[in-house]
Amino acid sequence: MSRGKLITIEGSEGAGKSTAVKYIQAYFAQHHLPFVLTREPGGTELAEEIRQVLLHPESSEKMAGETELLLMFASRAQHITALVKPAIEAGQYVISDRYVDASYAYQGGGRQLNMQQIKVLDELIVGALQPDMTLLFDIPVDLGLARTRNRASGKDRIEHEKIEFFERVRHVYLERAKQDPARIKIIDASQSIENVQMQIRTELDKFFASNN
Ligand code: TYD
Repeated sequence: MSRGKLITIEGSEGAGKSTAVKYIQAYFAQHHLPFVLTREPGGTELAEEIRQVLLHPESSEKMAGETELLLMFASRAQHITALVKPAIEAGQYVISDRYVDASYAYQGGGRQLNMQQIKVLDELIVGALQPDMTLLFDIPVDLGLARTRNRASGKDRIEHEKIEFFERVRHVYLERAKQDPARIKIIDASQSIENVQMQIRTELDKFFASNN
């Protein structure tokens, strides 16, 4: 059986990732491609428990940046071992709503933690299980944050950060896309839903044309 592939979805706040994920799911179903949809932090029972700790709004004790980084990777280690690796080995496509690029963007960019140390954790925990394709939903920070303000649900711990934090997140994502254009495809998420869906379809069509 041939090895499956890992496709990851990334983006800053308010980039419309959730709507995009539904569209991607529909694309896979339409093309009869066997897939598993998952997310980070989380994706398995234990990893979802770590997600709760990570995103719970701040209480009296502030979470240290290093704690956040290690918990992101703890959740990822569990997710990879229990879900991503077995699914890929079974020949399935794994679609993950966020993955390791988010640690560079949020903990490296947003929190300004040491990028080299993040790279060490990446090599240790993710290793060869790097994404085969990443769709990066990019939107100017002010526009993205304005969109999230219309959301009914409350903010999680990370969403409480200041605009500068999200500017740094966006910058790192775009830098990574520039370094690895063959893998990371930028989707201009400031466009209409129809236009964004057209961009997604184009990238997925290209991916499957070159991977078959
Ligand atoms: P997500 O569920 O995608 O939230 P949203 O839909 O609001 O973007 O991700 C939860 C949060 O976790 C999000 O603020 C990004 C953050 N995150 C990191 O800081 N580092 C990571 O490695 C990952 C995977 C997520």
